[in-house]
Amino acid sequence: MEARHQFGSRLGVILASVGSAVGLGNVWRFPMEAGRGGGAAFILVYVIFVLILALPVMCSEFVVGRKGRANAADSFKRLAPNGSWSMVGYMGVLAGFLILSFYIVVAAWTLYYTVESLRGTLIGEHDFNLFYSDFSTDTWHPLLYVFLFLVANTVIVAGGVQKGIERCSKWMMPLLFLIIVTLACFSLSLPGASEGVRFLLYPDFSKLTIGVVLSAMGQAFFSLSVGIGCLATYASYFKRDVDLIRSSFVICLLDTCVAVVSGIVIFPVVFSIGASVDAGPGLVFITLPHIFNLVLGSSPVANYLFSALFYILLLVAALTSSVSMHEMVTALVHEKFRLKRPQASVIVAVAVMVCAAACSLSFGAWKDVTVFGMVFFALFDFVTAKFMMPIGGLCFCVFVSWVMKRSVVENELCGSRSSRTRRVIVSVVYFFMRAVAPLCLLGVFFYELFGR
Ligand code: ALA
Repeated sequence: MEARHQFGSRLGVILASVGSAVGLGNVWRFPMEAGRGGGAAFILVYVIFVLILALPVMCSEFVVGRKGRANAADSFKRLAPNGSWSMVGYMGVLAGFLILSFYIVVAAWTLYYTVESLRGTLIGEHDFNLFYSDFSTDTWHPLLYVFLFLVANTVIVAGGVQKGIERCSKWMMPLLFLIIVTLACFSLSLPGASEGVRFLLYPDFSKLTIGVVLSAMGQAFFSLSVGIGCLATYASYFKRDVDLIRSSFVICLLDTCVAVVSGIVIFPVVFSIGASVDAGPGLVFITLPHIFNLVLGSSPVANYLFSALFYILLLVAALTSSVSMHEMVTALVHEKFRLKRPQASVIVAVAVMVCAAACSLSFGAWKDVTVFGMVFFALFDFVTAKFMMPIGGLCFCVFVSWVMKRSVVENELCGSRSSRTRRVIVSVVYFFMRAVAPLCLLGVFFYELFGR
C-alpha cells in the first residue's frame, strides 16, 4: 500500500479547501437565492448560519479527518472502533456522489457556455431561452460536455493530492479571484450599478419567510461543502502544523466574500436594464447572456471579454469543487479496495457518468420519469440538501463534541497555540459544536418533517 498523501504547504491547504467550497454554489446559486430572499436580508441570515452552523461543522470535519487520517468512513472507524459511526462516513460519501452527479450537469452547461462564449456565439441578440433549452433538453449534446468535464476532473484526482489537487488549486484559485475582482470592477462602472449594490447592502426584511431562512441554511451547507465528509477527507491530508481553527475561519470568510462579490458582479448588470433579480436558475444561463448583449452590445470586445471571463469563472469554480467531491469518493474506493488511485478515480468517474446521465436526461427525454414526484436532478438535490447534509453535519458535531474526548479535540483545535485568546476561541467553537449547531439542526429537521 502506498504512503498516505499530504498537502505540501499551508497555502495549498487553504487554496484546495477554498476551492472545494467556492463553486457554482457561490456564483450561480447564491445570487439567485439572494435575489429571491430580499438581497441583504438573505445575506445577513446566511452569514449567521455560516457562523453558528457551518463553521462548527467544518471544524468537526477537520478534527475527524486529521485525527482519523483516512477516508471519511474509516476515519470514524479508527476514532471509534466499536460504534457504527463509520455509517456517517458512508452516508457522507454517498451524499457527495449524489451531489457530484447533479452538480456535474450544471458544470457541463457551464463548459458549453464557456466554449460558446469563446467562439463568440453569445455575442449579438439571440433567443437565449431557446439557446438554453435547446441544449439542456437535448439527449446527447449535454452528455458530451458532462463527459469532457468528468475527464478533466478525473485527470486532476488521478494526479494525486499534491501533484493533482494542490497544484491545480494553486493556479486556479488565484485565477478565479483575479477574474471575479476584474468583473466586479467592470460591473460597478456600469450605469445603474448603485441600484445593484443598494440591493445587496439594504435588507428587505419583508422577504424573509421561514422558507427563505431554511434556504439560507441549505445554501450555507452547500456552499461550504460541509456535512458530507468532503472536508474531512481533505483534512486527512493536512500536516500537523495546519491550524484548523484559523483555516476554517479563512475558508468561511473567503467563500462568503466570493459569494457577495458574485452578487456585485451580477446585480449591477441586472439592475442596469431593470431586469428581475429573482429569475431563478435561468439567471446565469438565460438572463445574463441577454443582458450582457443589451448592456455591452455597443462594444463587442467588452461584451466578448465580459461574457467569456464570466463563464470561465463559473467553470473554474465548478471544477475545483467537483474535484473535492470526486476525491472524497475516490479516497474511499482507493483505500477500501486497495486499488491504485488512477484506477479508483476512473471507476468513480464511470459511476458518476451513469447517474449524471439520469440527471441530465431529467431536463429532456426523462422529464416525465419521476420518483416521489421529482425528476432525478431535483430528487438528488432534495435528498442531499434537505436530509443528508444536515444529518451529516449533526452527526459530525455530535461525534466530535460528545463521543471524542474533549482534551483530544481541544488539542487538535489549539495546535501549538495555547494562548488565552486561543483557548477562549476554542471553547466557544466547542460550545457551538456541542449545543448550538446540533439543536438548530434538530429544530430544522423536525420542522422539515412535521412543521410544513
Ligand atoms: N461548495 C460547492 C459549491 O459551492 C459545492 O458549489
